[in-house]
Amino acid sequence: MNKNIPAKGGSASGGKHILPPLPYAYDALEPYIDARTMELHHTKHHQTYVDKLNGVLEKYPKLADMPLEEIMRKLDSLPIETADRAAIKNHGGGHLNHSLFWQIMGPASPSQGGPKKATDEKLIEEITKTCGSLEEFKKKFSETAAARFGSGWAWLARKANGQLEIYSTQNQDSPYLTNDTPIIGLDVWEHAYYLKYQNKRPDYIEAWWNVLKLLP
Ligand SMILES: [Fe+2]
Repeated sequence: MNKNIPAKGGSASGGKHILPPLPYAYDALEPYIDARTMELHHTKHHQTYVDKLNGVLEKYPKLADMPLEEIMRKLDSLPIETADRAAIKNHGGGHLNHSLFWQIMGPASPSQGGPKKATDEKLIEEITKTCGSLEEFKKKFSETAAARFGSGWAWLARKANGQLEIYSTQNQDSPYLTNDTPIIGLDVWEHAYYLKYQNKRPDYIEAWWNVLKLLP
């Protein structure tokens, strides 16, 4: 039996993790994210995280039915060898992070069925309360994404106490590692933008807001 990651990122039972299909075509996020980048990102980068995660989890049959988010939350206390713990953090994080990333984006052009926004009024209200305005939120989030040195992600995540927080993580570190729940994540690894934007990460970040479904 295969284990798939459901829409919002994470749990299922039995068997192996699989690459979740993209909910749109590879060229659906054009012109903001190009089709070639999307295809490589999904079929090569994300697939590799899935394969390597499955490879290491084979050694731990007792974890087979534990949701990946829960594995992340408990990673430090689970009986896992040190090297495998690092591998699960990297590849499990990569799988969770990308699974969310595909879901929160959507077609940008009308010919692809977009722009369809899936705005969440309660979330918008919370963001406005936390940051002052949506514009301020976007500014702060974009600055956080731009400032991440090297590879990583920018996040809007919910802390265990319910508060929203903007921060970034390095590599594929998942917010679940610190018991947070990711809501919006932006991949700022070069593999996410280099073909179209080369070294101009701020241009990619600015363009990305056009394909984020959750906010107007
Ligand atoms: Fe990525």
